Amino acid sequence: MQMKNILITGGAGFIGANFIRVVLAECPQWRLVNLDALTYAGNLANLADLPPEQQARHHFVHGDIRDGALLARLFKEHAFAGVIHFAAESHVDRSITAPQAFVDTNVGGTCTLLQAALAAWQEQGRPAAFRFHHVSTDEVYGSLGPTGAFSEDTPYDPSSPYSASKAASDHFVRAYGRTYGLPILITNCSNNYGPYQFPEKLIPLIIDNILAGQALPVYGDGSNVRDWLYVLDHCQALRQVFEQGRPGETYNIGGGAERTTLEIVRELCRIVDGRQGRATGSSEKRITFVSDRPGHDFRYAIDASKIKRELGWQPQHSFSTALEATVEWYLGHQPWVEGVKSGDYRQWLELNYAGRNC
Ligand code: NAD
Ligand code: TYD
Repeated sequence: MQMKNILITGGAGFIGANFIRVVLAECPQWRLVNLDALTYAGNLANLADLPPEQQARHHFVHGDIRDGALLARLFKEHAFAGVIHFAAESHVDRSITAPQAFVDTNVGGTCTLLQAALAAWQEQGRPAAFRFHHVSTDEVYGSLGPTGAFSEDTPYDPSSPYSASKAASDHFVRAYGRTYGLPILITNCSNNYGPYQFPEKLIPLIIDNILAGQALPVYGDGSNVRDWLYVLDHCQALRQVFEQGRPGETYNIGGGAERTTLEIVRELCRIVDGRQGRATGSSEKRITFVSDRPGHDFRYAIDASKIKRELGWQPQHSFSTALEATVEWYLGHQPWVEGVKSGDYRQWLELNYAGRNC
């Protein structure tokens, strides 16, 4: 069997760790080098229980995508067949309080990675099978009104420092494709949920607060809409795009499960209360409307017809079943949740919710 070395960046984070778990199980010829700086969002516990045969194909490197010398060494040592780039600062609220890290990692880090990949690809004689796959977000398209959906042709119109930094990184990736011929792929996905998500994002934060009997913060009036996708469906889409996508192309990925924030929070209250044997409605009472996020995008929705038509991808999980499974996972992984809440988490929560009347 011909082994394939693939560089994964940000594989200790939420989506990267889920992706690594999926492909190590499903692709026996893949050998992964996982480069992660282990910021507050990265956690090696996400990969600690891999079976020995899979551990042997997972090589972790503690390092930063902004470190060009390290990247050059890794490309030389492993002759990568491709790169799947997850590493990023990923949380909108943090990008509002401290935007510089988003510019440094999401824009600067992506450019450093592109340059290292380009140099190695040129040195190897420009192999046609090489892929640089950039994992991006639907937030680059900005905000929708009550109707319509983002297609791959929707003009970029980012609202937050996070989405602006991801938009800039998408532009650089596309530019390396057009200018140098680097075989790039870009995917723009909607909001993910599932196991191993850092509990600052809506779904794990609300589950955690319900369990702790704390206030459930809803920004504004809770009418903002997101198109929710189970992380394992995203991982399958990424694998299909990486293996079968046409170089130079962009693919939108979404679950077609639009929900308002208030609907999500109420549904989580119902599921957790049911599992915990609490009286119906006991957690809903703790929903607290707090001041809105500045520049808060009203609605995201994805037109995923291109990836469905060209690659035959379809989400395999219904929203209700996958949300139940997600709650089940967090209930069974409380030590994990407590473990990841180290470092600056409490301090950040205080900063984020200060003045929001929570
Ligand atoms: P995450 O915040 O959970 O994980 C990010 C990972 O990147 C962490 O392990 C962190 O340690 C690592 N990292 C950060 N800066 C780094 C650096 N300078 N060098 C090396 N590693 C670094 O993020 P996530 O939710 O898993 O998102 C992964 C990717 O998917 C991001 O690019 C994000 O923009 C994109 N995305 C996320 C969602 C979502 O709903 N979470 C949706 C669409 C797209
Ligand atoms: P989030 O999980 O931060 O993802 P994104 O901002 O990238 O979409 O937030 C999802 C939605 O939930 C968004 O509309 C903001 C809202 N939200 C709350 O109402 N309360 C919260 O405590 C958080 C974290 C988010």
